[in-house]
This record gives sequence, structure tokens and C-alpha cells, in this order.
Amino acid sequence: MATQQTRHDDRFFAACYSRIARSRAFRRQMDPFRRALTQAARGVVLEVGAGGGQNFAFYDPAITTRVAAVEPNAHMLRRAEVAAQAARVPIQLTQAPAEDLPFADASFDAALATFVFCSVDDPARALGELRRVLKPGGTLLLFEHVRSRAPRWARVQDWLTPLQRRVAGNCHLNRATGDLVRAQGFTLTDEVWSGGGVHPLLAIIATR
Ligand SMILES: C[S@@+](CC[C@H](N)C(=O)[O-])C[C@H]1O[C@@H](n2cnc3c(N)ncnc32)[C@H](O)[C@@H]1O
Repeated sequence: MATQQTRHDDRFFAACYSRIARSRAFRRQMDPFRRALTQAARGVVLEVGAGGGQNFAFYDPAITTRVAAVEPNAHMLRRAEVAAQAARVPIQLTQAPAEDLPFADASFDAALATFVFCSVDDPARALGELRRVLKPGGTLLLFEHVRSRAPRWARVQDWLTPLQRRVAGNCHLNRATGDLVRAQGFTLTDEVWSGGGVHPLLAIIATR
């Protein structure tokens, strides 16, 4: 299936998503997962698709030494810079896509992404890059909305995805991200499903 390349200069999406991410309902659903994943982000951490820095306030200096965060969208990046200044751990921001990380092999203890693998152009390549820059035994931490395990809902997701991609920054409702993580050779140590319908949520802890 041909993939439409993401527009990484999408100002409208950056503004809309930032507003949604600040809403009470969104934070009530997301914040417990942001807290749990950042509590597992030990040592030197890479965050990809950092958006407006929605995870930054959750990093704990008792656990995380520093964070290298990448985000391709310049309008998101500007918001992330503000969030980085308020964070409790040092955060260095770089404009880059997850498929092409400007870091040496085996340079991170953990890699984290939340609500990103639905949108990247090439999720297999991006996961391969995360594997490359993680140290052996390093931890992959993901929280994503994914393809439903119920075939009927998965068909609805397939049907809605072309529209969703247009209006929500290349976001696919129907990606089986857990399977892609396994296919890249990671070992899943923890998997928590929540939500349902067209928007099931999956939190993953995996080891390189
Ligand atoms: C829905 S937002 C999530 C932002 C943030 N991670 C959060 O949890 O709120 C998706 C983010 O993924 C970013 N993104 C899209 N394609 C990407 C890619 N190829 N590599 C890295 N990030 C990407 C978008 O620019 C956007 O900031």
C-alpha cells in the first residue's frame, strides 16, 4: 500500500493537537501512562516524536539522567522547547524523524514514545533505528493506540484510516504496533491493553 509522506511543517495539526493534549479529559486518560512509562525510563533516555513535550514534566531526576528528544515538526518543537525549560531533568531537543536518528549505535539506556507510531511514515524502519541506538538490554517504552484485536473493529479502523490520516497528521488507526515491535526483534516484557472500539490503547515495555 502506498504511504502518503507526513508533512512535518503542519502548523494546524501542531496547534490542534497541543490544545487537545492540554484538555482535562485527555490528560485524565494519558497521564497515568505517561507517569508509569517515565518511571521505567532509567539512565540516558531517547524520546522520539516528543510533540510539544507532553511527557517532559513526568521525567524524574531520581530515575532519568538526561533526555535526548527528537521531533520533526518545527511547530511542535517550539512548544517542546518551552516544556523542556520547565522539566526536572536536562532535555536536549533535535529536529529529526524517528526513521533517521542522528545518534551513535548503542547510546541510550531507554527509548520512549507515546502516540507516535500511528503517525510515522515507516514504523518498521523507525523501530529498527530505536533498536540501533539502544544499548543491548536497553528498554523500549511505548504507549500507542493500535489495531483492534476484534476483527469487526479492525475493519472499521481500516475504513476510517484514510480520513484520519488526512485530518490528524498521518495518524493511522489500524497499525498493529505490538507485532511490529516483536518483528524488529524486541522481547516484550509487559503489555497493558485499555480502551477499545476504534481506539484501543497499548502500553508496551520491551527489551532490546
Ligand atoms: C499525536 S502526536 C504525540 C505527541 C507526544 N508524543 C504525546 O505523547 O503527546 C504525534 C507526534 O509524532 C510526530 N511524528 C510524526 N511523524 C514522525 C516521525 N516520522 N518521527 C518522529 N516523530 C514523528 C508528530 O510530529 C507529532 O509530534
